[in-house]
Amino acid sequence: MSPLHVTRTLPEDATDAALRADVLHGLTVHPKRLPPKWFYDARGSELFEQITELPEYYPTRAEREILAGRSGEIAAASGARTLVELGSGSSEKTRYLLDALSPGAYVPVDVSESALTQAGQALVAERPGLDVHALIADFTAPLALPETPGPRLVAFLGGTIGNLLPAERAGFLASVRSLLAPGDGLLLGTDLVKDERVLVRAYDDAAGVTAAFNKNVLAVVNRELDADFDPDAFDHVALWDAGREWIEMRLRSRVAQTVKVPALDLAVHFAAGEELRTEVSAKFRKEGVTRELAAAGLELTHWWTDAQGRFALSLSVV
Ligand code: AVJ
Repeated sequence: MSPLHVTRTLPEDATDAALRADVLHGLTVHPKRLPPKWFYDARGSELFEQITELPEYYPTRAEREILAGRSGEIAAASGARTLVELGSGSSEKTRYLLDALSPGAYVPVDVSESALTQAGQALVAERPGLDVHALIADFTAPLALPETPGPRLVAFLGGTIGNLLPAERAGFLASVRSLLAPGDGLLLGTDLVKDERVLVRAYDDAAGVTAAFNKNVLAVVNRELDADFDPDAFDHVALWDAGREWIEMRLRSRVAQTVKVPALDLAVHFAAGEELRTEVSAKFRKEGVTRELAAAGLELTHWWTDAQGRFALSLSVV
């Protein structure tokens, strides 16, 4: 069995410092906001896995449909011998790409060490001959990839690019572009603009799993920064911003209240009805994806959608 290599590019305390900075800034600006990356502790990752199985949450199934049907074409167009996956999580949908590409190396990149080692161990056991170089890293920061055979295909799936704000997306795509050598490619998953009711239901499911996922960020801040958020004092809100074509998740304070964050020496006042933005999930059109890729020096060469046109995978080979 080939070994599993794990490289940490994040110091253990980097996460803590970044969380402190984000909470301090986000809770003292108006309107209040927190970045969505803090949802994903062990509980949040488990809730997200449950979301992907909800009847209302179509993106995971739609993307899986594309990968199941088109991985052969993706492999032929990219010819990659190394698959790099940003935000790999459980690496569940990656198996279609690994089957089609049979690469010599797989480089999953994620901030979650537990997700990486779990998925990595399963993969090296399943696939003799596959070198797995797991990278514990924040994919929004500049990355150094291990020396593996080219060409490389960098996959960023799930529509997670939609969780970045437009300026962050531009910076992210430019930094991915700088990692690519001639012959390398980027495979990007984007959720598409569609009927508002379908979109809102996907982020406000009947079983309340997304509400629990949204409120989990308060539990993370409570645990990590000793804060005293009462999750029951907030309502889950999902709304469609038609102008910016993105879904926003917010937490709306049910009452006027003051929350203490002792680790930051901070007391945060919420007016009754005041909202804290916890996530933006942008939805795309082909023209917008083409334009944003081009702005980063990437040419969209292939575009695949599921049969219902809900989700797209695009490929750029440089
Ligand atoms: C798959 C991480 C991009 O924005 O749809 C799911 C996260 N948020 N439900 C998305 C999420 C609320 C998700 N990502």
